[in-house]
Amino acid sequence: MKILNLGSLNIDKIYSVEHYAAAGETIPAKTYGEFCGGKGLNQSIALAKAGAQVYHAGCVGPDGGILSDTLAAAGVRTELIRESGRPSGHAVIHVDPEGQNKITIFGGANSDVTPAYIDSVLSHFEPGDMLLLQNEISNVAYAIEQGSEKGMTVVFNPSPIGSGIGQCDLRKVDYLILNEVEGRQLADTDAEDAQIILERLRQKYPQTVLVLTLGSRGSCYVDGKESFFQGIFPAKTVDTTGAGDTFTGYFLAGIAAGRPPRETMEYAAMASAISVGRHGAAPGIPDFNEVCEEMERVKAGGSRLPEQERREYK
Ligand code: RIB
Repeated sequence: MKILNLGSLNIDKIYSVEHYAAAGETIPAKTYGEFCGGKGLNQSIALAKAGAQVYHAGCVGPDGGILSDTLAAAGVRTELIRESGRPSGHAVIHVDPEGQNKITIFGGANSDVTPAYIDSVLSHFEPGDMLLLQNEISNVAYAIEQGSEKGMTVVFNPSPIGSGIGQCDLRKVDYLILNEVEGRQLADTDAEDAQIILERLRQKYPQTVLVLTLGSRGSCYVDGKESFFQGIFPAKTVDTTGAGDTFTGYFLAGIAAGRPPRETMEYAAMASAISVGRHGAAPGIPDFNEVCEEMERVKAGGSRLPEQERREYK
């Protein structure tokens, strides 16, 4: 099975701050760095690091060489990426002392993904191949339609949730990987309870495998045969940017390799726990060996936290 990720490529401008600026307030940043990012690029790198063969497609600007090169260096096939006239997409990210973030994205070249380009990319793939999409490029609804028509396994991470999602026919999606905010919106509920969100989504999309991520509370998996909860592995958090993308890439690499969902959810949880201990989205994604070693260590009784924080962690 080949995996096609038709997704965003961004330059992330990351500022660490003491607190987020209020309206009318100017604050100094403690540090600044530029990294490769974009939910699409991050998920492709996580897939490749987890051992999957992944083709990335999407648009960059004349400044996008670093984005393609970074993907290629991680083992991602990049020949389908197209250069458009606009500058590459970028994200302005503020990270607070707890490692939480606020992100503003500017689509740039990510908005130049046209139906004609999607058709030409899809012509390289067969029924049974996997198509992964997020909501940071133009014409996502068309890509879902065409991928499904072609008999590909369509995976959708509807992030960031917003305009355009309403045009997507989610009944054509085979795997929906989403967080609670996205889950509530798609399930049309205000419920806090993850169980209610999942039940509603299941009613609306009975054929779709659901993966609901709950941040520091873990994640849930539901398909027609089984449903279970996966806890988190504790982590000393410095930057949560890209943790969800790491989870998605690792989860899908396991599914594509035919591993059981319980196992692949566990590895995804460990990979994202490692990623939050590092700065930057793409640079924080661990290699498969690291994830395996850490899993072995933890299963043998090792802790992921220094003694002081072990006491504070519940
Ligand atoms: O999920 C994290 C990503 O969201 C960042 O890399 C940023 O580019 C935005 O797309």
